[in-house]
Amino acid sequence: MSRVVVVSGGGTGIGRAVAERFAQDADEVVVIGRRADVLDRAAAEITDAGAPAKVVAVTADLSDPAEADRVRTVLGERYGRVDVLVHSAGGNAALGAPASQGSPAAQAAAHWTENFRSNVLTTVLLTEALRDLFTAPGGRIVLLSSIAAYRGSGSGSYAGAKAALHPYAYDLAAALGGQGVTVNVVAPGYIADTEFFRGALSAEREQLLIAQTSTGRAGIPQDVAETVHWLASPSAGQITGQIIQVNGGAERGR
Ligand SMILES: NC(=O)c1ccc[n+]([C@@H]2O[C@H](COP(=O)([O-])OP(=O)(O)OC[C@H]3O[C@@H](n4cnc5c(N)ncnc54)[C@H](OP(=O)(O)O)[C@@H]3O)[C@@H](O)[C@H]2O)c1
Repeated sequence: MSRVVVVSGGGTGIGRAVAERFAQDADEVVVIGRRADVLDRAAAEITDAGAPAKVVAVTADLSDPAEADRVRTVLGERYGRVDVLVHSAGGNAALGAPASQGSPAAQAAAHWTENFRSNVLTTVLLTEALRDLFTAPGGRIVLLSSIAAYRGSGSGSYAGAKAALHPYAYDLAAALGGQGVTVNVVAPGYIADTEFFRGALSAEREQLLIAQTSTGRAGIPQDVAETVHWLASPSAGQITGQIIQVNGGAERGR
């Protein structure tokens, strides 16, 4: 049976690959992000590529509770349920951003706040807004963390925001488990072909990230999408409250 699959950040990178993967199943896929042009293009390209599903774009800034509530209204009216929710919205606000103004404390406040909004609030607000729509039993929620939650991210602000998702997922898994809804986290290492680095990844840094893997290659969005797809499958119903790392072994380093 076709499922209603909601993918935040589904216009680019990992989220787009997730949307493509579920669209292959003829699921009803909704992609959410702030840029309407990016979302509309992704939805049209996935459909034009022959996906049996029609992909629908909903524009929203998910760090704003009123926007998350508006998304809930749209999805409630259109589908009346959410079978799979994948949270790919996020990113590292410290990467590629213009030099911050103000004192060191003011600069830290700016990027800690923005990373919290971008990674934690986008996930928590959409989940809470959609809570009464999750299909039970059978609902699936997948959050996107990062290898940074284990290894740090330079300033700590992005890593800390991703790490904050882990206890949220544990609590949510405990709260929803009895209803047959699972909650898991996928924590990727370096994934190429996304907008994550905003053009700020040097060739030297990329080679270093690849050298840290045991597989000797960068991850690709499809590596993450396949893991998300498996966690969202009916056969993964006994897996909940888990963090799955997709990093080619890079957490161990070399
Ligand atoms: N690429 C990597 O190496 C890597 C590694 C580990 C973890 N991750 C995580 O994987 C997830 C996907 O990232 P990606 O690599 O695919 O990068 P990406 O291409 O930049 O995707 C991030 C998506 O999130 C959306 N987004 C950001 N803030 C939003 C907001 N407030 N409301 C709604 N949508 C928002 C963006 O669209 P708009 O700008 O249009 O809103 C964009 O489509 C992120 O959570 C990232 O932290 C990435």
